[in-house]
Amino acid sequence: MKYSQTVLITGGSSGIGFELSKYFARDAYHLVWVAAYEEEITVAKQILLQSFPEIRIDSLAIDLSQSNAAQAVYQWTKQKQWTIDVLVNNAGFGTYGFLGDTSLEKEQAMIQLNVYTVYTLTHLFLKEMKSRNTGKILNISSNTALQPVPRMATYAATKAFVKHFSESIHEELKALKADVSITVVCPAATKNTKFQQSAAMQKVRTFEGLLCTTPEEVAKDAYKGLQKGKKTVLTGARLRNTHWLTKLIPNSIIQFFLRKELDQKTI
Ligand SMILES: NC(=O)c1ccc[n+]([C@@H]2O[C@H](COP(=O)([O-])OP(=O)(O)OC[C@H]3O[C@@H](n4cnc5c(N)ncnc54)[C@H](OP(=O)(O)O)[C@@H]3O)[C@@H](O)[C@H]2O)c1
Repeated sequence: MKYSQTVLITGGSSGIGFELSKYFARDAYHLVWVAAYEEEITVAKQILLQSFPEIRIDSLAIDLSQSNAAQAVYQWTKQKQWTIDVLVNNAGFGTYGFLGDTSLEKEQAMIQLNVYTVYTLTHLFLKEMKSRNTGKILNISSNTALQPVPRMATYAATKAFVKHFSESIHEELKALKADVSITVVCPAATKNTKFQQSAAMQKVRTFEGLLCTTPEEVAKDAYKGLQKGKKTVLTGARLRNTHWLTKLIPNSIIQFFLRKELDQKTI
């Protein structure tokens, strides 16, 4: 099979990253996955290869919350002599609870992964893309980046970094008239991924709320936005269609509803 291009996807073996991988596989990309667990990567590869038997998937199991992980990933792609045409910074996790009740170590690892690793990978690969004057980056943020989020203070702040950082670079690339794009995606609460469990949010209402979406819908919107070189993608459809309302409603009312959404169900 002749590969069109190479895409590096962090967290490609699960949830939103896995659904995005299906679009890249359909379009004959060489997939390069970086995720935490070798066993999960192996299982996910087998599943994807059943639908796309001709594609090539290479992978690296590494803890991306380690401070040297992004550099190690970059060096690995150099050793392999791959040109990364598309970078997808998708790996990430959340924490839930009032600050102080949450684990300091877990939140430090989350900041490392959601912020530092995303920053470093973007920096390293964007530099190359700019020198080639071709390439695309897709950064996965969250709708928690759109306003303060009680009980998700640290997670929301990491995702606000990803959104602000990506949108600023988008403007830089526009000013440079570069043939390189960066797109940031803000998904609403997305059910049926490992995120909810790893953030200990099994009982939180937002995953059944009005705006809630699926990894399939997020991947569809994100892939379309990436191909068009959009600056920001809001997904799913219900978040996109109602977001304008938040500009009209006073923040105190938004915070009232957010507190309810992020509360735990009693039954
Ligand atoms: N689900 C939501 O409600 C939601 C909403 C908005 C934004 N997001 C964002 O969407 C992205 C994908 O989340 P998801 O919902 O698809 O969750 P997911 O199923 O938990 O997928 C997360 C992926 O990140 C990888 N990962 C996590 N920690 C890692 C680490 N320390 N080192 C290497 N890889 C690591 C996981 O690897 P393994 O599979 O090997 O563990 C997994 O492939 C995240 O950035 C998340 O913040 C999620």
